Amino acid sequence: MCGIIGYVGHQEASAVIVEGLRRLEYRGYDSAGVAILNGGIHLRRAVGKLINLADSLAALPLNGSVGVGHTRWATHGRPTEPNAHPHVVGRIAVVHNGIIENHHQLRARLVADGHVFSSETDTEIFSHLINAGVSKGLSLEDAVCAATKDVSGAYAIAVLDVDHPECVVVAKQQSPLILGVGAGETFCASDIPAILMHTRDVIFMEDGDMAILTRDGYELRRFETGIKVERAVTRIEWSAVAAEKDGYEHFMLKEIHEQPRAITDTIRGRISMADGDVYSEGMEITREDLANLRRIVIIACGTSWHAALIGKQYIEEATRIPVEVDLASEFRYRNPIVDSRTLVIAVSQSGETADTLAALKESQRRGARAAAVVNVIGSSIARAAGNVLYTHAGPEIGVASTKAFTTQMAALYLIAVRFGRILGTLNADQGRALLTDLLAVPGDVARAIELSGAARDIAKTYVGATSALYLGRGLLHPIALEGALKLKEISYIHAEGYAAGEMKHGPIALVDEFTPTIIAAPRGPTYEKTCSNLQEVAARGGAVIAIGDEDDDELRSMADAYLPVPRSTPWTAPFVSVIPMQLLAYHLADLKGTDIDQPRNLAKSVTVE
Ligand code: G6P
Repeated sequence: MCGIIGYVGHQEASAVIVEGLRRLEYRGYDSAGVAILNGGIHLRRAVGKLINLADSLAALPLNGSVGVGHTRWATHGRPTEPNAHPHVVGRIAVVHNGIIENHHQLRARLVADGHVFSSETDTEIFSHLINAGVSKGLSLEDAVCAATKDVSGAYAIAVLDVDHPECVVVAKQQSPLILGVGAGETFCASDIPAILMHTRDVIFMEDGDMAILTRDGYELRRFETGIKVERAVTRIEWSAVAAEKDGYEHFMLKEIHEQPRAITDTIRGRISMADGDVYSEGMEITREDLANLRRIVIIACGTSWHAALIGKQYIEEATRIPVEVDLASEFRYRNPIVDSRTLVIAVSQSGETADTLAALKESQRRGARAAAVVNVIGSSIARAAGNVLYTHAGPEIGVASTKAFTTQMAALYLIAVRFGRILGTLNADQGRALLTDLLAVPGDVARAIELSGAARDIAKTYVGATSALYLGRGLLHPIALEGALKLKEISYIHAEGYAAGEMKHGPIALVDEFTPTIIAAPRGPTYEKTCSNLQEVAARGGAVIAIGDEDDDELRSMADAYLPVPRSTPWTAPFVSVIPMQLLAYHLADLKGTDIDQPRNLAKSVTVE
């Protein structure tokens, strides 16, 4: 998983590329590089974050107006300079995002033919194959096509050729790649923010597409057949600053604060109070379709999986259709039982998570109906599913997901109400009541965000903790899992999320004065039981940080620290409860001085399996 960018135009290519890579760093950041065409290939690579490459280029600039760049998240080969992209062989330089699955066989074949490799990467295979093609007299384009016939796996590549100094050739198979069309300049990139400051006119390449980019535009072909194709140009309305930090110290904090707006955008225009129903434009399903279903399966990874666990409870409650939630990386490898009477819903912020995409496609292959809840418009999962409810959270840059999570919950809430109304398992009054509750969420979330100062004070007390427990029941069990994940991801403090009732079956043994327990206990169906669990922790000398209703003085008196949130309903409690957990994780990490937006070993978009 990596980010790539290519440029042909009239500006200094290295400046355009480095700026673009900065906006792609969320895709990986263990090394970076650029290659510029200017009477030959001029290469610069650096291990570590992009700043190292930028510093090196500032000290010794590379001039030229055609180039490619890469920010890497190592899959094959350690993060060293020889393994950093671009990979140059002969006339050819290549940057690549993805994984070549048959790289062992291809490498052995190439080595036997006398090729000498200078890196451990799978990518270098492309450089050798394409260079061999052009050396045999193939055109650059035909050499790229020929290479794609040998290679299996996922790739988005951008290629430079010394003998074609005015163009960049790109190809896409399973990894994301967009083109950007400017005035006298053309771009390619793994994601929109990389080029948004230059152009808003974007083409989403399809699997099997290749393109030749020149200053004057682009020509798209299918690389199997060589046949020219046209793809629609999409005008992107995001502002470039929408992807910036807005004055917050970290993207994560900015994105926490964006949640009231983001949730509003998810539900905006989708609610019909008169009918107590939802307009789920993009996610079309009939009464007959739903009545025919035996079950619904939701597949996702990471934080999106936690949203899926909440979606399960919403949908089951609203429709009485059994819903199963599975980790995409497990689902796809265990011969899942899905057929035409199964609806599979993929939940993904990026829309590019390789396991989620593959699990969705596997379900479709088995005849399942497909749908998706996705943030990134035009992403691979959105396109594969066809039937999509976009969350409209806007670009999420912080690796630790926040607004993507709460907007996914909001989208799944809407789906549950819609399905319930279609089936008649919810009547109009019930639909109206649930939607009225949902409309109150952005305001309540905004008030919960005001707990930032209180969360920081609590964080100061527990900054030395090496382990933490997160507990919740029902819809708050996935919130406990999410709270623990947030803490682990950015503060590197070990944390476990548990169903509060399960605590006595193991985790209670971990309770001591150094292991705080964070417990979500707003009033609701299992409130008393959760309070009992809190007392079990307190009785064993454990410190308790409770999240509960703002008027619940009894709960407040039981806890060592209290984070009071606005009164909620059972369905809206997950929204207000997760906010203090996000804030607590953020402030603990900030006090510890970790790299909050780019935590070690993690990446925002996991396009490897
Ligand atoms: C990575 C990210 C997580 C995200 C997960 C699934 O692990 O760091 O924040 O939840 O991938 O990504 P998706 O884009 O499919 O929601």
